[in-house]
Amino acid sequence: MTPRESVFDSPGTVGKRPGVGDLMRTIERVLPDGGDWCDLHKAHTLAALVLALRPRVIVEIGVWMGGSLVPMALALQWLDAHAAPALERLEQRGKIYGIDPWSPVASVAGEDDATNVAWWSGVDHETAYTKLLLRIADLGLAPYVGIARITSDDFEPSILGAMPGVVGCGIDLIHIDGNHTEQAHRDAKRYLPHVRVGGIVVFDDVGWGGGGVARGVEWAREHGFVDLYALGTGLVMQRVADALHDFEEALT
Ligand SMILES: C[S@@+](CC[C@H](N)C(=O)[O-])C[C@H]1O[C@@H](n2cnc3c(N)ncnc32)[C@H](O)[C@@H]1O
Repeated sequence: MTPRESVFDSPGTVGKRPGVGDLMRTIERVLPDGGDWCDLHKAHTLAALVLALRPRVIVEIGVWMGGSLVPMALALQWLDAHAAPALERLEQRGKIYGIDPWSPVASVAGEDDATNVAWWSGVDHETAYTKLLLRIADLGLAPYVGIARITSDDFEPSILGAMPGVVGCGIDLIHIDGNHTEQAHRDAKRYLPHVRVGGIVVFDDVGWGGGGVARGVEWAREHGFVDLYALGTGLVMQRVADALHDFEEALT
């Protein structure tokens, strides 16, 4: 590597296999089209988590224009095209399930902050949804993405472990970035029991006013998840324990 080259500029090949440089550059190029909720560090980190986990089931609560969903979907697409067959953990490609109602009513539910209520009431949710669909089509990501246009409360996470043709149990990676009120705590309680041991949860905005996200993080800590590292204003955690007796309680 010459002094001018970055890691991503290097040839990045092992034998005849392409490296991840193309993927990371594509993510950087398309990131602005997804709005500005997800910065480049987070986008690259989410993609790197996908490369490391080789997930079968990813869930994102709160999609908007795909700022964070598209980088993860691009990583799934890249794995499908370039991952070493000898290391293939799974028989079928991974998929990311995006859950979002794109509804101003849902966006302001439980929100006390007047500035947030005004912003979310005024922003055009329909256009954001349409832009997401166009991005998925333009980038060839349809095989890797499932969209559920409903609230996280109305989605049943237990079906993810029992999808037709899907082997295994549960969620490998989940990004909780929907409504940040008490809803985030509820999302943690409903979805995290379905994350497999070794799986990852990424919380967005853990310091959000009202404490809903922080209560979600606390619930995770009490139910077999440990902090890995901060990610911007968010937190990456991993499930290390199979505290099923606690989870059963949460599911009732
Ligand atoms: C901050 S944005 C998500 C940003 C996106 N993850 C990114 O990085 O670009 C929050 C999203 O949560 C969605 N949302 C609001 N209430 C929701 C709910 N109850 N369930 C799921 N999504 C919800 C909104 O429609 C909005 O798209």
